Amino acid sequence: MSKRIDVKNFNVYYGDFLAVEGVDMVIEPRSVTALIGPSGCGKSTFLRTLNRMHEVIPGARVEGHAYMDGQDLYGPDVDPVEVRRQVGMVFQRANPFPTMSIADNVLAGVKLNNRRMSKGDAADLVERALRGANLWNEVKDRLDRPGSSISGGQQQRLCIARAIAVEPQVLLMDEPCSALDPISTLAIEDLITELKQDYTIVIVTHNMQQAARVSDTTGFFNIAGTGKPGKLIEMDATERMFSMPKEKATEDYISGRFG
Ligand SMILES: Nc1ncnc2c1ncn2[C@@H]1O[C@H](COP(=O)(O)OP(=O)(O)OP(=O)(O)O)[C@@H](O)[C@H]1O
Ligand SMILES: [Mg+2]
Repeated sequence: MSKRIDVKNFNVYYGDFLAVEGVDMVIEPRSVTALIGPSGCGKSTFLRTLNRMHEVIPGARVEGHAYMDGQDLYGPDVDPVEVRRQVGMVFQRANPFPTMSIADNVLAGVKLNNRRMSKGDAADLVERALRGANLWNEVKDRLDRPGSSISGGQQQRLCIARAIAVEPQVLLMDEPCSALDPISTLAIEDLITELKQDYTIVIVTHNMQQAARVSDTTGFFNIAGTGKPGKLIEMDATERMFSMPKEKATEDYISGRFG
């Protein structure tokens, strides 16, 4: 299921504003890639281009190529809706549909994709996705309760269940733990480590310890000043990035001297 992403010579714009410039990046399958960097350097912007969510903002566009197993996600024949099915996304704030039941929340993305299924198949899928998100045991007796009736950490895992229920190839996560307590954060990190056996995972995080704990590869974005574009400064195996980065800006950032 897992796929390789290869971004080449990529520029990302909001209208005339060049937000991210000149990114070349390879993201390996069955691995976790962490994107780090100071606020405003374009991490979220770049992440959203990988499932074509960026262009839903009026005037927003990209230049360059983003290949997924060789297929250009921005090719002329590519349907953005299909890209979003293959490349799932989890956001900073858990956003389950509050009045929809836990089970229906899991199925929401699948139903959006117009897949018809029997009650039994739907129940199986709900269980599989909730088990995959490490939430099944906590909610199996109250699947008909509203999505808002569980804790914040559980809601975030519910959103992960919703994302994996459509069987994506890639999972993008934008600061998925920033609103969570340390215990829920560790639960999500454990889950990420499990999920990487099946998925390509890209996670944006401000938490250096988290990047060091969960990721195999780390990319550092930086920005030269307000109004300037964000750039990918350096990308390497996480261990190397945190022990002997090549660039001084990377070292300053990860050691907390900047950003
Ligand atoms: N919808 C938008 N329209 C115009 N400019 C935007 C929009 N969203 C973000 N930007 C700009 O793009 C740049 C990158 O923003 P982005 O949100 O990607 O940064 P980030 O690295 O994710 O920051 P943070 O760590 O604070 O989340 C910023 O200058 C921001 O103001
Ligand atoms: Mg962001």
